[in-house]
Amino acid sequence: MTSAEPGFLELIEGWDGVGVVVRHDQLTGSWIFVALHDDTLGPATGGCRMKVYARPEEGLLDALRLSEGMTYKWAAMDFPFGGGKTVLAIPRPLVGPERVGLLHRFGELLNSLGGRYGTGADLGTTTEDMQTIAEVSEYVIGVHGRTEGPMDPSPFTALGVFEGIRASLRHRTGEGDVRGRRILVQGVGAVGAALSKRIVGAGGVLLLSDTDERRLSEVATELDAEVVEPEDVYGTDCDVYAPCAIGATLNPETIATLRCQVVAGAANNQLASPTDAALLQDRDILYAPDYVINGGGAMAFTLIYQGEDRVAQLERRVSAIGATLEIIFDEASRGDCSPVVAAQTHVQRVLERGASQA
Ligand code: NAI
Repeated sequence: MTSAEPGFLELIEGWDGVGVVVRHDQLTGSWIFVALHDDTLGPATGGCRMKVYARPEEGLLDALRLSEGMTYKWAAMDFPFGGGKTVLAIPRPLVGPERVGLLHRFGELLNSLGGRYGTGADLGTTTEDMQTIAEVSEYVIGVHGRTEGPMDPSPFTALGVFEGIRASLRHRTGEGDVRGRRILVQGVGAVGAALSKRIVGAGGVLLLSDTDERRLSEVATELDAEVVEPEDVYGTDCDVYAPCAIGATLNPETIATLRCQVVAGAANNQLASPTDAALLQDRDILYAPDYVINGGGAMAFTLIYQGEDRVAQLERRVSAIGATLEIIFDEASRGDCSPVVAAQTHVQRVLERGASQA
């Protein structure tokens, strides 16, 4: 380890969260990191990531950062949950009884927290993994639901993004109707495909791009969409660019070539660096902060976990993401700052109000 790479102690010393639970799972050689960042608004809640890291410290760092991100996500939506995240830092891909064993032992650890933290699926874990944890623990979100089969957050995420696009257009152009608007969806996976259907259903002009040519051609044919080559996405003339594939697509090079009025999509960590928000503002491109616009799935799952089973109610709550974005955009306009800065101010205000009511 070089001095540039902090160890466990330095990482925890430099973090201002509520606490970290660390356990080494001897049977699989895995590290379990449960980071509880903030519980001002409610119990820490966030997904469980499973990944092979070069060093376990990298897994801890991921847990710390991601749990902080969850604090902002819940607060942005003004939802009664706090920021938390689990990382299962595994030494090699785990399958069969080894995987089940680790998940069960993680479930027992969850139980020992007595409801201070709830988990769900994330990168490297599946709904089936969550069902395995749920065999021993009740603190699993996204498994006990209205339906018998596995639940899918993507349609709710897509609804939140669609309402976010409408709010962004309303703020940027004065008209929130997507009819006749050219909307470029990058990534026609679970969220992108559901979003595309909503866009077409509302009369929008759909442009699609994906590196998976077969999937792209299937969805483009079904929805009669214009196909854009992956390398042409950033320079294509459109009203809205909706990143729904990978992170860091917004960087100084791509921002310089964008020909859109709005960037609003589901992908996590769209900005390569926080300073890129100012570059978008300089180009008069309205950016819907990713952690605000893509929270629909998380929102619906926690509502279902709390017993809400009426689809209309779930959709109504998720649709409110549009109103939240409008508040943030208005604040950004008033303060002449980027929506990213305005979203942070909004989050701080919600957390301060939560703290004063505690
Ligand atoms: P997915 O894996 O179902 O779909 C991603 C699609 O992007 C795939 O079709 C893939 O071929 C395509 N793709 C990958 N690299 C690409 C590139 N360079 N250019 C164009 N297309 C590319 O993923 P899903 O669930 O639809 O999620 C999409 C994004 O939204 C991800 O960044 C995810 O982290 C984020 N997100 C998803 C949520 C959900 O409810 N599924 C919730 C919040 C965020």
